[in-house]
Amino acid sequence: MRIAVIGGDGTGPEVVAEGLKVLETVAKKVGFEYTTKDFNVSGDRYLERGGNPEAPSIEIISDEEIEELKTFDAIYLGAVGHPGVAPGILEKGLLLRMRFAMDQYVNLRPVKLYPNVPTPLAGKGPDDIDFVVVRENTEGIYTGMGGVQYQGTPQEVSTQVNCTTRFGAERAIRYAFELCKKRNSPKKMVTLVHKTNVLTYVGQTWFNAFQDVAREYPDIKTDYNHVDACCMWFVKNPEFYDVIVTDNIFGDIITDLGAMIQGGMGVAAGGNINPAGVSMFEPIGGSAPKYTGQNVINPIAAIAAMAMLLRETGANKGDEKLVAAGNLVEEAILACTPKMESQSAGRMGMTTTEAGNMVAATVAG
Ligand code: IPM
Ligand code: MN
Repeated sequence: MRIAVIGGDGTGPEVVAEGLKVLETVAKKVGFEYTTKDFNVSGDRYLERGGNPEAPSIEIISDEEIEELKTFDAIYLGAVGHPGVAPGILEKGLLLRMRFAMDQYVNLRPVKLYPNVPTPLAGKGPDDIDFVVVRENTEGIYTGMGGVQYQGTPQEVSTQVNCTTRFGAERAIRYAFELCKKRNSPKKMVTLVHKTNVLTYVGQTWFNAFQDVAREYPDIKTDYNHVDACCMWFVKNPEFYDVIVTDNIFGDIITDLGAMIQGGMGVAAGGNINPAGVSMFEPIGGSAPKYTGQNVINPIAAIAAMAMLLRETGANKGDEKLVAAGNLVEEAILACTPKMESQSAGRMGMTTTEAGNMVAATVAG
């Protein structure tokens, strides 16, 4: 297996180092070969090359780099986001660019509470908080369609188009049903989350696609929530959910809430998936610049992203060793989180390196 590694900015490289440490251990344990190649694409590189911190100027990642990334079996990403670069430049120029260029049309975000990890939800435990959000990852308001006119004047007018295609909605929905089938939880239910009462055009496209795909899966129950109600249910009855499928921006928002109920940004991992191409796995917490270089950031999310990388890549290639390795890493996380004082940066009762060592040692057995 060949893995492209993008540490990125802030604490990204620190947590990626721990994920790679666990990878090295699990590869020895399970017995598979792999190579990694580092890609120095980051906000730092952009600035070093003279990129304008206020507006996109030079390329953040080149076409050649994108083409090279496409030749790997998987991409392992730390974090994108730099305090010295204005919002939007790196997000669009790097993260969204990679998601779109590699057609990673599903953003897979499990919301799973690990044992002994505190959740802010009173009376809820690991049995209650265990579902997956399938976020459409290439469309919606993320495409950049729209524009601004008369900028800087009182007449300024701007639009940001919610670009929704039947094709895009349908492939995300079908992915969600397939996932539900595989998960085989007793709930066996896919919930569509949208805002069809206001976004009547794009909502209808999603709703129609959902109903049509659902007919192909008579054993799977279906449900629909408006996105605002979904936020309420996340807090009130998270045990209600099995698999959620939703559009790009709604998925972005509800998975931050999901991360909080599963114990925080320190544990939440996600995968940008192209089932027929190259997928990219990342902790979803961001670059956390204020903790950079202090050895206090929680590497669990990045290690969970590595577990996901192994499992997804293994399943895709039909490589059972990789799947077993991913499961082993996940089991090690389950065994280790109870030994940490907290899942928050700086309050783990151990350093980043120690947390990584502990998971690696548990994998080694
Ligand atoms: C995420 C992030 C990104 C998104 C940003 C950094 C563009 O919030 O991965 O959830 O909105 O998708
Ligand atoms: Mn987000």
